[in-house]
Amino acid sequence: MRLLEVGILLLASATAVAARVAACALPSTYRWNSTGALASPKSGWASLKDFSHVIYNGQHLVFGSFHDTGSTWGSMNFGLFGDWSNMASASQNKMTPGTVAPTVFYFAPKNIWVLAYQWGPTTFSYLTSSNPSSVSGWSSPQPLFSGTISGASAIDQTVIGDSSNMYLFFAGDNGKIYRASMPIGNFPGNFGSSSTVILSDSTNNLFEAVQVYSVQGQNQYLMIVEAIGANGRYFRSFTATNLGGTWTAQTTSESKPFAGKANSGATWTNDISHGDLIRTNPDQTMTIDPCNLQFLYQGRATNSGGSYDLLPYRPGLLTLQH
Ligand SMILES: *[C@@H]1O[C@H](CO)[C@@H](O)[C@H](O)[C@H]1NC(C)=O
Repeated sequence: MRLLEVGILLLASATAVAARVAACALPSTYRWNSTGALASPKSGWASLKDFSHVIYNGQHLVFGSFHDTGSTWGSMNFGLFGDWSNMASASQNKMTPGTVAPTVFYFAPKNIWVLAYQWGPTTFSYLTSSNPSSVSGWSSPQPLFSGTISGASAIDQTVIGDSSNMYLFFAGDNGKIYRASMPIGNFPGNFGSSSTVILSDSTNNLFEAVQVYSVQGQNQYLMIVEAIGANGRYFRSFTATNLGGTWTAQTTSESKPFAGKANSGATWTNDISHGDLIRTNPDQTMTIDPCNLQFLYQGRATNSGGSYDLLPYRPGLLTLQH
């Protein structure tokens, strides 16, 4: 080999190593672009909501809630689809029992899929499965959290683990975010009945739809919480270095939010509401990659209104702009 060829080889392998270890930090200011609405509810349903997303067998697997055109909430999944442009034609499959506001993930230590939800037999409940794309392949409901909160209803759970513990975070539509935890060896199981308030603010500032993620390549966790703004629903963000520790505000205003009308790039919706950041893998670490950040959210037509239960929410996808 001539010296020039050796040099080129060295340069090529150095570039490959750099690409493998390169990690992005979360930006301090977020700017997104957005698709339009990616799917419409099937006949008899008024809305598609509260999305939880994983990649399963190389395809998108999305769970959500729906409200029918009458007075009933339920839950569903979409049939597997390969590309976001195929979401509109994916089947919409009702779940029984109704697993409203679902959180789906793969619990790697026990090689089992977990679907956590609200309004089951206990405050929060879960199902397990070895085939998460099959709506009929899930276990019977098990208790995930049996506690209550003072003066409000616990709502919108999410679950995340580090190497030693599993954590449950939830909201109360009351300006508070709550946390419970258990040793990872006890999971799947019941977090019990006690919880700790970890964030407290006005009702509008910490409303619902809390999600917590590990930030890939950083010793950092990201929490997003849905807020009620003057111009629609938007997300505020917090960071921590320990899931059991304290959270520091990162984006707190409607004019410079994590995601909202001010920075979404969306024209079809003012609301950027309950959804899931796209994770790098489906496991309990809930890991996101700030180099390639996307947010599957629920939005609704800017001219829509009326009864909250019947608002015409639909899925949309934000992509972070660098
Ligand atoms: C959003 O931006 C990404 C690049 O970051 C681009 O690939 C994509 O096509 C854009 N999507 C929309 C809906 O504009």
